[in-house]
Amino acid sequence: MKIPHKIYLPEDKIPQQWYNLRADMKTKPAPLLNPGTGKPAMLEELLPVFCEELARQELDDDSAYFDIPGPVQDYYRMYRPSPLVRAYELERALGTPAKIYFKFEGNNTSGSHKLNSAAAQVYYAKAQGLSHLTTETGAGQWGTAMAMASAFFGIDLSVFMVKVSSEQKPFRKAVMEAYGASVIASPSDTTNVGRAILAEHPGTGGSLGCAISEAIEKAVTTPDSRYVLGSVLNQVLLHQSVIGLEAKAAFEMIDEYPDIIIGCTGGGSNLGGLVAPFMQDRLTGKKTPYFIAVEPASCPSMTRGRYAYDFCDTGRTTPLAKMYTLGSGFMPAPNHAGGLRFHGMSPILSQLYEDGYLDEARAVVQTDVLEAATMFAKCETILPAPESAHAIRGAIDEALRCKETGEAKTILFGLSGTGYFDLNAYSSYIHGEMGDYIPTDEELEIGFASLPKV
Ligand SMILES: Cc1ncc(COP(=O)(O)O)c(C=O)c1O
Repeated sequence: MKIPHKIYLPEDKIPQQWYNLRADMKTKPAPLLNPGTGKPAMLEELLPVFCEELARQELDDDSAYFDIPGPVQDYYRMYRPSPLVRAYELERALGTPAKIYFKFEGNNTSGSHKLNSAAAQVYYAKAQGLSHLTTETGAGQWGTAMAMASAFFGIDLSVFMVKVSSEQKPFRKAVMEAYGASVIASPSDTTNVGRAILAEHPGTGGSLGCAISEAIEKAVTTPDSRYVLGSVLNQVLLHQSVIGLEAKAAFEMIDEYPDIIIGCTGGGSNLGGLVAPFMQDRLTGKKTPYFIAVEPASCPSMTRGRYAYDFCDTGRTTPLAKMYTLGSGFMPAPNHAGGLRFHGMSPILSQLYEDGYLDEARAVVQTDVLEAATMFAKCETILPAPESAHAIRGAIDEALRCKETGEAKTILFGLSGTGYFDLNAYSSYIHGEMGDYIPTDEELEIGFASLPKV
């Protein structure tokens, strides 16, 4: 059978349910803790910050499937299914016997997978009767996705955008504003926590952790408002399972199954979503695909972090999550993959990594990432986001290993988004101005010292 370049599911095969990986995990991710009491956070404690249905999803370790609400399915149909693409030209350029596939999530205006969860989260907020949402954004894709979904479902949105990203990508702000969102560079002087962070770290470029603190403060001090998060949380991985479910169905259409599955990891949502149904096969003993997470060497939460309870934000206002973390006090160095500059990792992926089901985490430096990104762009025509290019780096390295061993493995990677707003990164790489930063052990100790005693 000649496998086509692009495999699209028919529209009526877009999943109608999300899959909750936790249901099949023998060791569940550790519960969120209330930092005040040290006890597991109860539903009522989450409700001042999160929408009700999302808080329920967050705490549900047992229901394997959740129906995707009709209006969210309708929204998905405007930009899904996303294609599963066979990277024939990349294979040829590498001279590898491996078969390389990628699931391309960049084909919508947000430019990434983030819209899959934004549509769901905004829908539930609107259904609950809220009038305003707050969120953070790093690279800008999540903020854009939220702006799009908020405009569609009719809800006001404030986005705290990591300052370095807003400087690197001013037009991201314009896109969000075009959809009606209000965008504030973080840390800002509009919140108490922002002012405190600025006093302690004057001149800081900010981080996702800072922006989350500001967005939460704004949510709890604004009437009829809640906070939404674009990654890390269990609910976000649940919504992103649509990526993996579609990919698996597309592989079934061509009678294939991946041997190796690779994704980039910031907070873990695109990788968690991509691997979900394949990990189900692994957890239930049906198949043994090999899973690889690729992260930036400048923010190495899985490869050099600790598996510990920590805050999800710099201002230490969130519940405590047990995850691989560099400490909420870790200030990642500026890196062009803004969406990967987060100190922690999804508790689900962290537990799977701890238990050996997520087989491997790798840290890569940004010049190697951009080398992979430009090679991929030239071969496959798509200009990838620097975040996604971490997964490309991983896939290229695996394909080159196959070239050495002569194995024709089937490799799947998540192409989580496009890089049209990341041209500073491309320009600095092309002109030889890009540096690589790897924190020293002493620098990491500063972050670890901020870990709460639990
Ligand atoms: C294109 C893209 N890929 C990946 C990520 C990383 O997030 P996650 O690990 O939640 O998928 C981001 C985050 O902003 C992103 O914009």
